[in-house]
Amino acid sequence: MASYTDTDEQPSNGPYHAGGSREDEHVTGPSDLSELLKEGTKESHEKAESCTFVKDFLKGHIKRELFKLATAALYFTYSALEEELDRNKEDPAIEPLYFPLELHRTENLKKDLCYFYGEDWEDTVQPSVATQAYVERIHHLGRHSPELLVAHAYTRYMGDLSGGQILKKVAQRALHLPTTGEGVQFYEFNNVTNAQKFKQLYRARLNTLELDAEKKESIVEEANRAFHFNMKVFEELDIIGANLPKEEQKAAEPVHDGKGDIRK
Ligand code: HEM
Repeated sequence: MASYTDTDEQPSNGPYHAGGSREDEHVTGPSDLSELLKEGTKESHEKAESCTFVKDFLKGHIKRELFKLATAALYFTYSALEEELDRNKEDPAIEPLYFPLELHRTENLKKDLCYFYGEDWEDTVQPSVATQAYVERIHHLGRHSPELLVAHAYTRYMGDLSGGQILKKVAQRALHLPTTGEGVQFYEFNNVTNAQKFKQLYRARLNTLELDAEKKESIVEEANRAFHFNMKVFEELDIIGANLPKEEQKAAEPVHDGKGDIRK
């Protein structure tokens, strides 16, 4: 299992620690997977940012019922992703990126669903059509092409680490959620003290994977597919949201003018 200590934001073991050099200080080049992913998904990222669901959420325009459904969609997605990461944790493409303590979201999502739907939440929630398609893709990769799971892990965890705190505050305010964190455990990374540094470490680990150019290209292609699956889920939520009854909402504080460096 890859590991990372909170005290110095350094991995506590593994070959990348050798020689005392800081793994996250490596200067990236254009053929590094982290750069290829960032550049190669730029367009998808822009599209995801401008989805109605995402834009409305950032403005605090989210109905409680819709937020509950979005949380359920995340639960099914992360259960599938983390089940496949667990299964493939010894695969050389997965092992350096396997950070269950720091990143895995399934247990936190279960707490959120229990808060919103009650103890018997498992009898209540179901994957939507778009979520099911996403889940099936993840399971397919886990069984047949585990190295492509890297693309799905990158798309979700790097995104979550970039935006968690802002989205948490927006949801708490818009939905009048308790300030003690119930309902927004998904956004809490209790074992990551510095998200920025952790992302640097994750990028460095991406760049240690031994992959030829063709394989890197298929990972970038799969990451674009991962963005697409997310957008399909957002589109579905939009349609559902439009048909839900109006709810009284507290407008969010202006957190984002669409320009500055908002972390998602
Ligand atoms: C990174 C903004 C939605 C996935 C980032 C970063 C920003 C940002 C500013 C850079 C953080 C950094 O370099 O430290 C936004 C905004 C969003 C949004 C404003 C919506 C309004 C999404 C969505 C996804 C996503 C919906 C995926 C489902 C990612 C990923 C990265 C990222 C994978 C890491 C890029 C990299 O460094 O390689 N986002 N984001 N984002 N975001 Fe988003």
